[in-house]
Amino acid sequence: MKSRLHAHVGTLRQLEILLAVYTTGSITAAAAQLHLTQPTVSMQLKKLSEAIQAPIYDTVGRRLIFTQAGHVLADTAREVLEKFALLDMQLADLRGLKAGTLRIAVVTTSKYFIPHLLGPFCQRYPQVEIAFHVGNRQQIIKRLEQAHDDFYVFSHPPEDLNLSSNRLLPNPLVAIAPLSHPLAGRDISLAEFACLPFLAREQGSGTRYAVDSFMREAGVTLNIRMTIESNEAIKHSVAAGLGVSILSAHAIRFSGTDGLVELRVEGLPINTHWHFVWPNGKRLSPLAQTFLEYVQQEGRRTFLLEERT
Ligand code: PGA
Repeated sequence: MKSRLHAHVGTLRQLEILLAVYTTGSITAAAAQLHLTQPTVSMQLKKLSEAIQAPIYDTVGRRLIFTQAGHVLADTAREVLEKFALLDMQLADLRGLKAGTLRIAVVTTSKYFIPHLLGPFCQRYPQVEIAFHVGNRQQIIKRLEQAHDDFYVFSHPPEDLNLSSNRLLPNPLVAIAPLSHPLAGRDISLAEFACLPFLAREQGSGTRYAVDSFMREAGVTLNIRMTIESNEAIKHSVAAGLGVSILSAHAIRFSGTDGLVELRVEGLPINTHWHFVWPNGKRLSPLAQTFLEYVQQEGRRTFLLEERT
């Protein structure tokens, strides 16, 4: 019975015909409404009746009297057709870019500003859902390799992958120390800074990658005391006097600078930029395409604002 239902009741056209007969109460009227011949309408109803193995209606005189099964089937047909109408609308919304899920994966340092970019976009398209993933550089590269998301944000996009990218805001990396640090307010040489106990981000972090490259080029070795996997935990540890560090200025300013002071170290800040990245060759959904255009305009505006502050 189940498989027969699948095979026969599954045609939307038959359900449409049934509903037209049900609501008009007449095969002639339904046929006229649907621009079909009467025998076609009768034939489709007969097929439906065979599929459910029960009569759909009885004929009393010239009137159609729907059976119990006929009523149930008509109710179901109405529900199914309404659902399809809704689906149609949802698909139209998707084509019209008003709905859908946008998947974005970003490195931890950019989680402070990306929401400011997403906010106005979500206001413009309130039905858009955002799947926002935050990780360190290595974790985000892994997602990029598997093309999990529509877009990615890195300071240091991987060089060995075929990517499209737009440069966004500057992401300066600055040196921080506890508020009462004796070197605060002085110009410090890099060699002097390197002697201080340093709290480093973990291997795999883009911040760590940038700091290591900078120090390697300068021929300086840092005195790493602790490795800590979070910008916030590093800030607290620095404020607590465990050492100094180098972090994204955004990671410092966006979530408070309590107990911290920025040190004036030779050659710093390390100047990096965030990049808005997507895999080349991956077809962008209309929603993703709209978001990209939005970022290219809005991102630039935010960039200019940022430059002025
Ligand atoms: P991360 O962020 O240190 O959390 O990996 C990196 C970046 O700014 O590229």
